[in-house]
Amino acid sequence: MLHVNENYSKIQASYLFTEIAHRVSAHQAANPDAKIIRLGIGDVTEPLCDAVVKAMHKAVDDEAARENFHGYGPEQGYAFLREKASKVDFQDRGIDIAADEIFISDGAKCDCGNIQELFGNDVKIAVGDPVYPVYVDTNVMAGRTGANEGGRYGGLTYLTCDASNGFVPGPEAAGDADIVYLCYPNNPTGAVATKAQLQKWVDWANDRKSLILFDAAYEAFIRTPGIPHSIYECEGARKCAIEFRSYSKTAGFTGVRCGYTVVPKGLVAFASDGSPVELRPMWTRRQTTKFNGASYITQRGAEAIYSPEGQAQTKATIDFYLENGRLMKEALSALGYEVTGGGNSPYLWVNVKGDSWEFFDKLLKEANVVTTPGAGFGKAGEGYIRISSFNSRANVLEAVERIRKVL
Ligand code: MLT
Repeated sequence: MLHVNENYSKIQASYLFTEIAHRVSAHQAANPDAKIIRLGIGDVTEPLCDAVVKAMHKAVDDEAARENFHGYGPEQGYAFLREKASKVDFQDRGIDIAADEIFISDGAKCDCGNIQELFGNDVKIAVGDPVYPVYVDTNVMAGRTGANEGGRYGGLTYLTCDASNGFVPGPEAAGDADIVYLCYPNNPTGAVATKAQLQKWVDWANDRKSLILFDAAYEAFIRTPGIPHSIYECEGARKCAIEFRSYSKTAGFTGVRCGYTVVPKGLVAFASDGSPVELRPMWTRRQTTKFNGASYITQRGAEAIYSPEGQAQTKATIDFYLENGRLMKEALSALGYEVTGGGNSPYLWVNVKGDSWEFFDKLLKEANVVTTPGAGFGKAGEGYIRISSFNSRANVLEAVERIRKVL
């Protein structure tokens, strides 16, 4: 008899953003004239910057000429992009990461989901609550958890992120976890962690021989000096951390698809006899077996982000989104809502003092504005909604007006 992977029956019927998309489609179908403004999923709205567009056009021309044509590329990414990423994202900031420690991919979501394949099924996992659902669901699918009871999976350690800890939990709550997923600036709360807070995690991981999976997808939004852009700014992090980077929010690549993962040389996990096993060759093996690389055209586009024009143009777009967030935060605060996030993040985390799905439905039905209910990110997200700053200025101002009327 053909058996299915029964771990799938433990997970919620649909992925959070799929469930939201269903509700939005149903609302649109029932109200065909409604002009819905989407501040739910963190999907960019502003077009690719000039530097990227030019580089991609040129790359298309390369592919059109026999002498410059590229077929399969290296699975780990082209050297031209790995070298730029290691230089600009790390070495220019005084961080020791080499080009051959960078693995280019089609985005951080896939890498965050795939990385767990490198680890035993008995590893103990700690995640934030609320949390980006990919970290949890991929481990559920792999069979590392028990059933979901009352909104939490058996076998996972949840690190509650709430106002009492400034939405940044410390390692005290991680118990005997072998792996902890950290994401800063955080999705969904928008919170940022200080260097001292991250250093505590790094020290904890090195003491315990645990691993930090650090999702830095939103680092380009950091504006406050001194807030780390990378876990490798902390002493000792090369020995205990893998980092995920994304060009999605940095440069509007949600549709283009490109990101990378950093796996430092010398980073190890352990075989059952206690002997250390390097993770970088394992990730290389995994990628060369299951992935054929991001396209040449995409990687040429990503390379252009690192040119002086690319850096200035992508920064300007992020500043634009941050201003959207500032305007919405100001308006919601004036209405009496406690809002965290924004400032160094595209997400606002709003305390709605009530049921988050009800609040989501109210804004959808009465204001035609889509947000994300906090409960979708975990039990501790109940009572909040997440608002994304990714939209046009006109839509953001219109959404603010509509929300003001409804609330
Ligand atoms: C989000 O809205 O949380 C993100 O856009 C989802 C993602 O990056 O996959």
